[in-house]
Amino acid sequence: MSIPADTAAVSDEQQAREDELVRRVLDSFADTADPRLQQIMHAAVRHLHAFLRDVRLTEREWKQGIDFLTAVGHITDDRRQEFILLSDTLGASMQTIAINNEAYADATEATVFGPFFVEDAPHVELGGDIAGDAPGQPCWVEGTVRDTEGNAVADARIEVWEADEDGFYDVQYGDDRVAGRAHLFSDRDGSFRFWAVTPTPYPIPHDGPVGAMLAATGRSPMRASHLHFMVSAPGLRTLVTHIFVRGDELLSSDSVFGVKDSLVKDFVEQPSGAPTPDGRDLTGATWSRTRFDIVLAPADAHETGDGT
Ligand SMILES: [Fe+2]
Repeated sequence: MSIPADTAAVSDEQQAREDELVRRVLDSFADTADPRLQQIMHAAVRHLHAFLRDVRLTEREWKQGIDFLTAVGHITDDRRQEFILLSDTLGASMQTIAINNEAYADATEATVFGPFFVEDAPHVELGGDIAGDAPGQPCWVEGTVRDTEGNAVADARIEVWEADEDGFYDVQYGDDRVAGRAHLFSDRDGSFRFWAVTPTPYPIPHDGPVGAMLAATGRSPMRASHLHFMVSAPGLRTLVTHIFVRGDELLSSDSVFGVKDSLVKDFVEQPSGAPTPDGRDLTGATWSRTRFDIVLAPADAHETGDGT
């Protein structure tokens, strides 16, 4: 339960003093040349001051907040992005996505980008294996890329990345390995297919300040099992999304609020010895398969409203 702030105890004189400060700070941005920047700074100041006044923040709490943000900065480097984790765990990433991805016809829904994308992931041919040496149960992924008119999108660039069965992305190992990530291009008929590993649940990195925040607030760091996609093609809106595993008990408590029903897919377990789609010899191991048909919105969908 929230603790009501004792605003009733704030005298009219004190309120006027606080209002005056907000006004002076807002006025300080009067000469901002870029009107959008001015709008953002004004709103940020208004909401920040409203927050401080709402909770009647103590000076000790202000110092704790500064120390927290300092720690978020200190732990962030090329391989660890604590600010994205913070945004994700506060729902700010998903809110930004919600604002910018209004449903357009039957275009595939977006979800969080997350902190583990790496530029220049290796290229694999259609039917290739993005797992590299990442341990895990083999998973056959296939589908199509189409536009909202139903046309096949050939040569769409499909970036895929995922954690291994131990719940770690390659970049978390600190040994420069590249595994569980690649890019490929859709075929002339828009189809694609590749091997990956069956996604498993994992905790977001929780040995830093964001983890401390989750622990202090009784929240779990666990993410529902997922496979990341980023799909782009000329003239179409780039899609950043994941697919999730139907039946995963974490679907309702994903630590970054990323799950959307339309992105939950069947990952069908195949018995050991079941023939593989491409004849790959898995020497008696079990494997799984899933299907993800992707629909990309027009690049200008955001400007043209809901597309109806
Ligand atoms: Fe992820």
